Amino acid sequence: MRSPIEFRSDNAVGVAPEILASIGEANEGGELGYGGDRWTTMLTERVREVFGHATARIFPVPTGTAANALALSAMTPPWGAILCHPDAHIITHEGGASSLFSGGAVMTAVPGEGSRIGSEQLRASLEAVTWGDPHESQPAVLSLTQPTERGTVYEVADIAELSRAAAEFGLTTHVDGARLANAIARLGCEPADVTWKAGALAVTLGATKNGGMSTDAIVSFDDSLSDELVYRTKRAGHVPSKMRFQSVQLLAYLADDLWLRLAAAANQSAQRLYEGLRSLDVDVRDEPEANIMFMRLDNEVIDRLEELDLMFYRIAPGVIRVVTSFKTTDAEVDETLVRFRTALSG
Ligand SMILES: Cc1ncc(COP(=O)(O)O)c(C=O)c1O
Repeated sequence: MRSPIEFRSDNAVGVAPEILASIGEANEGGELGYGGDRWTTMLTERVREVFGHATARIFPVPTGTAANALALSAMTPPWGAILCHPDAHIITHEGGASSLFSGGAVMTAVPGEGSRIGSEQLRASLEAVTWGDPHESQPAVLSLTQPTERGTVYEVADIAELSRAAAEFGLTTHVDGARLANAIARLGCEPADVTWKAGALAVTLGATKNGGMSTDAIVSFDDSLSDELVYRTKRAGHVPSKMRFQSVQLLAYLADDLWLRLAAAANQSAQRLYEGLRSLDVDVRDEPEANIMFMRLDNEVIDRLEELDLMFYRIAPGVIRVVTSFKTTDAEVDETLVRFRTALSG
C-alpha cells in the first residue's frame, strides 16, 4: 500500500523522541508553578549559554503568534509602526495579533527580493516618514523573519546592516525565528551571530515546528524589555502554572544541539528533494536555503500528485508549497521523486 508523504508543514508531523521523553521526566514530583520550577531555572541558564549572553531571559509561550505579538507589543508604543516584509507572517497570518497586543500599532510593509527586506527599501521607507507628526504611525520596530516565509535566509551581515539602519532612526529589531534553527543550521553560525550580535533585541524562538510539542518562546536580550515582558506575558494569560512542561521541552530542544540537528535534517531533505526536482525540470521558485520551497506546476499535475498521496499546500492556482521536517527521510524524498515522475508523465 502507498503511504501518504507529509509536506504540508513542519508542524504537521509529531514530536522528536528526546522532547517527548523529557515531558515524562518532568512529570515526577512536585514543583512550583508559574516558572518557579527547576526546569525553568535550568532553561534560563541554558539559553544564556547557547546565545552567549549573560542576561538573556526566556519566556516560554504556546505559539509563535504569541511570541511575536508579545515581544513586538513591548517594543512599540500603541501609536507605533512595526516594519516588516509584505510576506511576513505577522502581517499575513496572525489576525492582527501584534496590533491587538500593542494596543493599536500598525504594520508597515517594506519590500525586498525573496521575502527579505532590502536595505535600500528600508532606508527609503524610513526617510519617507514625517517624524513627530501625530497623523502618522511612528516606526518603532523592525521585524525580520529568519528564515523567511519563502524559505530564504538572511546572511548575518544583512541582519546587522538592516538593524543598524533601523537603529539610526531609533527603531529596535525583532527576529521572528519560528524556524530560527533552520537558518542557523544553514548559515553554520553561532546563535549569537544572527541575533543579539547582529542587533536584535528580542527573538521569537520556534520549537514546535522543529520537533517540539507545545511551546515556542521569546528570548529577550534587553533587561528593561525582559522586565516588561514579565507583566505582558502574565496579562495576556501566557504564564502557565505548569510551565515546567514547556520549559523541559525547550531544555531538551537546546541540549546537545538537538534543535540544530533536527533543523539540519529538514534542510538536507529539502536540498535532496530540490536537486531531484530540478533533474525532472520542475520549476522550483528558489533553491531552498532552509526547509520550505514553492514550485509551479500544471494544475492537472498537482491533482495527480494529490492522487498519489503527496500532501502539500496549494498556495495559488499552479503553485504549491512543500515543507520538509526533521522527520522527512531520504527514502520518502526518493519515493516523492518517483511519484513526481509518474504525475509529470501523465
Ligand atoms: C514565520 C512564522 N512565524 C510565526 C508563525 C506562528 O506560529 P504559530 O502558528 O505557532 O502561532 C509561523 C507559523 O506558521 C511562521 O511560519
